[in-house]
Amino acid sequence: MTRQSESGRPIEPVYGPDTQKGWDPAEKLGDPGSYPFTRGVYPTMYTGRPWTMRQYAGFGTAAESNARYRQLIAQGAKGLSVAFDLPTQMGHDSDAPIAHGEVGKVGVAIDSIDDMRVLLDGIPLDQVSTSMTINAPAALLLLLYQLIGDEQGIPADRLTGTVQNDILKEYIARGTYIFPPKPSLRLISDVFRYCRTEIPRWNTISISGYHMAEAGATPAQEIAFTLANGVEYVRTALAAGMAVDDFAPRLSFFFVARTTILEEVAKFRAARRIWARVMREEFGARDPRSLMLRFHTQTAGVQLTAQQPEVNLVRVAVQGLAAVLGGTQSLHTNSFDEAIALPTAKAARLALRTQQVLAYETDVTATVDPFAGSYAVERLTDDVEEETVALMRRVEELGGAVGAVEHGFQKSEIERSAYRIARETDSGERVVVGVNRFTLDQEEPYEPLRVDPAIEARQAERLAALRAGRDRSAVDTALHAVREAAGGTWNILVPMKEALRARATVGEVCDALREVWGTYVPKDAF
Ligand code: 3HC
Repeated sequence: MTRQSESGRPIEPVYGPDTQKGWDPAEKLGDPGSYPFTRGVYPTMYTGRPWTMRQYAGFGTAAESNARYRQLIAQGAKGLSVAFDLPTQMGHDSDAPIAHGEVGKVGVAIDSIDDMRVLLDGIPLDQVSTSMTINAPAALLLLLYQLIGDEQGIPADRLTGTVQNDILKEYIARGTYIFPPKPSLRLISDVFRYCRTEIPRWNTISISGYHMAEAGATPAQEIAFTLANGVEYVRTALAAGMAVDDFAPRLSFFFVARTTILEEVAKFRAARRIWARVMREEFGARDPRSLMLRFHTQTAGVQLTAQQPEVNLVRVAVQGLAAVLGGTQSLHTNSFDEAIALPTAKAARLALRTQQVLAYETDVTATVDPFAGSYAVERLTDDVEEETVALMRRVEELGGAVGAVEHGFQKSEIERSAYRIARETDSGERVVVGVNRFTLDQEEPYEPLRVDPAIEARQAERLAALRAGRDRSAVDTALHAVREAAGGTWNILVPMKEALRARATVGEVCDALREVWGTYVPKDAF
């Protein structure tokens, strides 16, 4: 049986250099830290500094999540990664009817500056970089972070972190969008412009392939659709009058790591080379940092199984190894129990320990891009690159990422791939240990972590106290300024920050924007 790659392409054993492709290491690879960055974005990579161990976490109230962040930092995590609950991600307050049942469930509930102050209490924002997985209201959460930094006496130019802020993949795969594409892209380029002068070390976007991969995208689809989204964001910022080297150095990316180690390493290497070429050739970027594809990786959640959950510890270790051998800058390793429920504290600790074993007990940090020159991985890198570039061309033919979204192209391509994977799994051609082979007659019992349902009531009480204790006319004036800016062309983050400072809620600011921009309704084509 020929082992299928994730792309559905049979993997042929490669016994020697692929001379047919006129293989020239100098041209194809470059040195680590140099164009086209195939071998990594920094000259020394992990020999200079290990990747950031950045575990995605957040649930319940700000106080509960703050306790988990302090625990992760105490256990050695070097970066934070905030998960927000769906009402926050969708720009609704915790006491909005539409929020019922979701408050504090898949992430932390953040309604206002008061909640953000609790979330970041006791965390040294000038020493820890914080990623926030927030998209449609990303600007608001970034401003709340800056406001708390102000309160802690930390200058904004010392703050480091990332907002995901990637709305296009929300239309394609994840679904937490609010506004139509045009105002959404305007808001994103306003964040680019604002951070360039106000928070210069902040990564303004994390252009994500992870969620498309989790929805079924192959490695080439994951890279192609992500980089095509990146091209759309660059074009949007240029059209808004920015110079490419003014914002491109702070673009970042986010990919998955699957158990197919060799193909994943090839995928990361191909992605760096393609992005470097696009930024130099198409956009004329000159700053080397504009050409560097810096990325975060999360191990593949869809490959976790509820059956024999401890086997997931092995999968996550293999996936984490793939990410590190592929040169990731930041890594989240999934907890082995996540296919069942929110991770327990012990499972979260084991996930972090997995990274620490990779970093401190193996020799993968002793060299840079260890697969360089490997017949198999260099051939795979070329193959993934070829397939990715062809797909990016098809997106371009449809008018770029937004045009392709409106044709439903990315969504249908991913669905087709997801169907193939499901068919292979059902037939047993694709082995899932513990699920379609090596199964147990009787699964062993497992006690998952449960989220306290009283969270919603507690959060509603906090909101009532906030509204009773603030200056309503100041809030109304500030929200009016947000609506004015939304209808105008000047940077909307400035009036947004004043509204949040006056203790307007995330939901109230988003409602002000909904009044002006409306909300996005997918066309029938999807
Ligand atoms: N040589 C020289 N300098 C080095 C170096 C080396 N070997 N290694 C690191 N550095 C420097 C860097 O230049 C950087 O300096 P700067 O701050 O001046 O830019 C600093 O050290 C930090 O290094 P990195 O920027 O490489 O690492 P970070 O961890 O700070 O940033 C990132 C990584 C990918 C650029 C950033 O965007 C990031 O952290 N992203 C995380 C995104 C994330 O966590 N997302 C979670 C998503 S979960 C989700 O979506 C929901 C769920 O459904 C999946």
